[in-house]
Amino acid sequence: MFWSSVARASSLMPVQGTEIAKQVDQLYVFLLWASFVSCVLVIGGFIYFSFKYKRQSDNDKTAYITHNNVLEFTWSFIPFLIFMGVFGWGWWVYSNMRSAPKDALEVQVIGQKWDWAFLYKSGKSSPAELVVPVNTPIKLVMTSRDVIHSFFVPAFRIKQDVVPGRYTSLWFNAKKEGNFQVFCTEYCGDQHSAMLAKVRVVSSEQYSEWLQNDPYKGLSMLDIGQKVYSVRCIACHSTTDQKGVGPGFAGLFGKERKFEGGAVAVADENYIRESILNPNAKVLETYPAGVMPTFAGQLSEEEIMGAIEYVKSLTQ
Ligand code: CUA
Repeated sequence: MFWSSVARASSLMPVQGTEIAKQVDQLYVFLLWASFVSCVLVIGGFIYFSFKYKRQSDNDKTAYITHNNVLEFTWSFIPFLIFMGVFGWGWWVYSNMRSAPKDALEVQVIGQKWDWAFLYKSGKSSPAELVVPVNTPIKLVMTSRDVIHSFFVPAFRIKQDVVPGRYTSLWFNAKKEGNFQVFCTEYCGDQHSAMLAKVRVVSSEQYSEWLQNDPYKGLSMLDIGQKVYSVRCIACHSTTDQKGVGPGFAGLFGKERKFEGGAVAVADENYIRESILNPNAKVLETYPAGVMPTFAGQLSEEEIMGAIEYVKSLTQ
């Protein structure tokens, strides 16, 4: 059937993943109904009066009306009360949203074109996935390595710009376990819409287990590289030889590369390593400079070697 094949939103808003989300939605629903009632009153009144006071004959004259104090006061004062109520309500929700509890668990968020990375106090880093325990206040301390991004979790109703050269923050307390989508909501370049991440909310036992767990345990170098690729490189580099934002990886290893100014080098391990850590050292002649951010301090030695291994594997 046609109707069953159409995806339908089960509600007006995304899932309510936090208490704040509930508060935001209540205010939103109030505004929606207040607007609806006002609209009915104004448009309904307009239609009703235009019939009631319609001119009956060509000789009808409009009565001499000056004003009506009670009526005018009422139609100004009632909206004034409603607006002040909305202001106070909005202020309350906003301050709940902005003031993180003192005991919140802090996680660093680093945005860059075009991915998100999360850094924990223990030193653990997690690309593209923010893992947090349920029913625990989490404070995000966020910065960007290049341009302005914006961190948005619709299910939590929280959003904040992420700005290079300074820290901004956000907090939330997830009530539900599960996966929640993160979007970048500040246009930051042509892969802006691919700048995605997930918040994975788990039980506190699962969280401490995850925190201690080595994500690469038992994986081959190639598997590690594949993992790194799928979260850090995929936005700009394809696994074919097709040109994207950056060059495709297939057939790249061992190939002669030509750079701005006519220099030439063979794409070996050192070249790939340099391109990851210092991408502007050698810029290919058919690509603009300054597009790729550095991954220095973002990837471990293990991950860099894995990535090199992965690039190599696309050439055999
Ligand atoms: Cu980052 Cu849009």
